[in-house]
This record gives sequence, structure tokens and C-alpha cells, in this order.
Amino acid sequence: MQRRDFLKGAAGLIAAAGSGPVSAQELNNPRNLEFLKIHWCYGRPKLRQNVYSLYNSNPNHPIIQAYRQAVSVMKGRPASDPTSWLYQANIHGTNTPAGSWPPGAPWSTCDHGFHFLSWHRMYLYFFERIVRAACGDPDFALPYWDYAPAANRTLPPPFRNPNNATNPLWDGTRPGMNGGGALPASAVDSTTCLVPLAFLGGGQFQGAVQGTPHNVVHGTIGGNMGGFNTAGQDPIFWLHHCNIDRLWEKWLAQGGGRVNPTANTTWMNTNFTFVDENKNFVQMSGADVLYTINQLNYQYEDPRTCVPPGGIIS
Ligand code: C2O
Repeated sequence: MQRRDFLKGAAGLIAAAGSGPVSAQELNNPRNLEFLKIHWCYGRPKLRQNVYSLYNSNPNHPIIQAYRQAVSVMKGRPASDPTSWLYQANIHGTNTPAGSWPPGAPWSTCDHGFHFLSWHRMYLYFFERIVRAACGDPDFALPYWDYAPAANRTLPPPFRNPNNATNPLWDGTRPGMNGGGALPASAVDSTTCLVPLAFLGGGQFQGAVQGTPHNVVHGTIGGNMGGFNTAGQDPIFWLHHCNIDRLWEKWLAQGGGRVNPTANTTWMNTNFTFVDENKNFVQMSGADVLYTINQLNYQYEDPRTCVPPGGIIS
């Protein structure tokens, strides 16, 4: 009887791992946890890849093309449509007065403090689902912009060429970057932030990565990217944040005691509202975004690590 129950639970988790999030409840069930530990790396997560690798292999890579097309589709939708470009950007921040927001819109809700990494992970997750639906590629995953290598510090060419409104990835407000200027090495340093062993707290990982490269890259690109209320309107925003989210995985993958702050109930259980590709309001909390593969069905090209509960033992 017990064994049957276990198998039933396991089958549910296999299905869940392949198609969508596993709930925090399922993860907290000790029997399921045993199962997940064994099968941690066997899902078929969507792969978030380096935009420069894609571009260098093919300037019109299907993933870049799919993103370009989805952005164009989303920009064509009215701001009242939750799957539109502007609605999604406004979730981060907006200059539109609250009196004229669509009913229930979770606009201006970005968290740049305690929930910085988890909030932006949720934000990207639902945005990516909307992009996937808009481009029609069921395997689409957001590319990331790893600006650490010197050769990758200019804006990826598809975002500045053509340099006019015919290009959905173009944004005319990037002083210094649209002409091919490069981010300075000091802006993109992603080694210092990976050093701390704790996630939360002054001088620890989350605060460090938020400073550099996160804030500095925003400020250096400038224009829309330079302000909370406009940043999400620049198509490069999402690739920048994909890289920040990747650094979270990189930090975990180093081991040495680096783990998610699962003992902090506020971090784990505070709910945030987003909208999915079917225009349904959805809520998520930190506990729902601990494991990208098993809860959110994606993985990074680098590091291609499976980080089990409790972190990597090193
Ligand atoms: Cu909420 Cu990079 O910003």
C-alpha cells in the first residue's frame, strides 16, 4: 500500500518535472524528496543559452529570431492585455498613474531588496512562457547575455542592428551602447559577487550580485534600462536578468555551503502576483523557485548543474 502510494506520487512528479512546476508541497513530502534526489537530473528542461554563442553560430539563429518575432507580436498588443510588451514591462515599474491601470494589474511590483533574486526569477519565468506562446516555439527558452568575456561586452548585434524601429529588439534610449560601445570590465565583474557563502544579509551574495553586475550594467546602458519604471521596456532587460538569474545558479553550483535561504519563512512564503500566457493571475513565492529544473523546467547552458535540495556538497 505504501509502495503503491509512492509509485503514484513518483509518476506524478515525473509528469510534473517534464511539463511544469512541482509544488512546494510536493517537494516537502519526504517520500517525494527521496525520489527527486534520485531523479534530480533526468527531466528535460528547456535550455537557456548564451546569446553571443547563438549569434556567433548563426546571426539569424532560430532562438534570436523567435525572440524578435515574439517581441514584435507583444508590442502589437494593447497595454491592457497582460501578454503585451508594455503590460509586462509595467509589472516591473510604470509611470502610468495607478488610477489608470487595468483592473488587478500587478504593476510596479519589482522587489529590489529582500526578494530581489526570487522576484525577478518569477518575473522571467512568466515572461518566458508568454514569449514561448507568442513565437509558437514550444521549446523556446530565453537566451542570456553573459557580458563577462571581453568580446561580449557590446550590446548583442541583433539589439542594435538595424538601428531603427523596424527592429523589434531596438531601443533608441541607450546612450553609448547603440553605437557599439562596450561595457567596462568594472561593470561586468561577476566573480566578486560569487564569493560570499550566505545568500541573505549585508555583503552576502544577493546584495553583491544586485550591485555588480546588476545595477552597474543597468546604469551603464542607461536610457530605459537606467530606471525602474522603464527598464522592462528595453528588450535587452530580459537577457540581462537571465544572466543575473544564471549567476544565482552559478553561485549555488560552487558548493562550499552555498544554499538557498530555505530557513527564512518570509523569503520562502511571501507571495507575488504575475500573469501567465493565458492571462490568468498567478502567484508564486520563494519556495516555488528554488530548483530551476524541477520546479520551473529550465536549465542554463552554463553551469549545466543539477543542484539538489541542501545544495551541492563540496
Ligand atoms: Cu528589477 Cu534589473 O531590475
